[in-house]
Amino acid sequence: MAIRVAVGSDHGGFPLKKTVVDFVKAQGFEVLDLGTNSDEACDYPDFAEAVGKAIIKGDAELGIVLCGSGVGVSVAANKIPGIRAGVCHDTFSARQCREDDDVNVLCMGARVIGTELAKDVMKAFLDAKFSGAERHRRRLQKVLKIEQENLLQKTT
Ligand code: RB5
Repeated sequence: MAIRVAVGSDHGGFPLKKTVVDFVKAQGFEVLDLGTNSDEACDYPDFAEAVGKAIIKGDAELGIVLCGSGVGVSVAANKIPGIRAGVCHDTFSARQCREDDDVNVLCMGARVIGTELAKDVMKAFLDAKFSGAERHRRRLQKVLKIEQENLLQKTT
């Protein structure tokens, strides 16, 4: 079964969204398009949250979120426990963030990156896999520990 990629964008990322959806499909993935669907102004946290929750619920394995810079959606998506979102506007980071950091949400800024580089970045991200190397597992465990300890702090 094809891996499903959830895609979301605010108005700032909207000019890049069709390129993203079409490219991801052309690479053989299923796309869960969570909006926005026009260039009308909207709030990036809504779409970052929708993509992050789709991954946590198991409706998608990976996500791509867009805003003007890529930064707002990454900050918002990273608030969801279990989401590891990274802004990548180069292919090295896009590949390495999956291989080493097991990033599950790629963030890009439509006001930063052009369509052709965005395609290369997406290909690097989608083709890469977490290496599973011991040192990376250890570091990921430390990231999870930070997440869990700070979640616990809030409820006590
Ligand atoms: C919207 O104008 C813009 O602030 C947003 O798309 C994003 O760049 C935030 O990081």
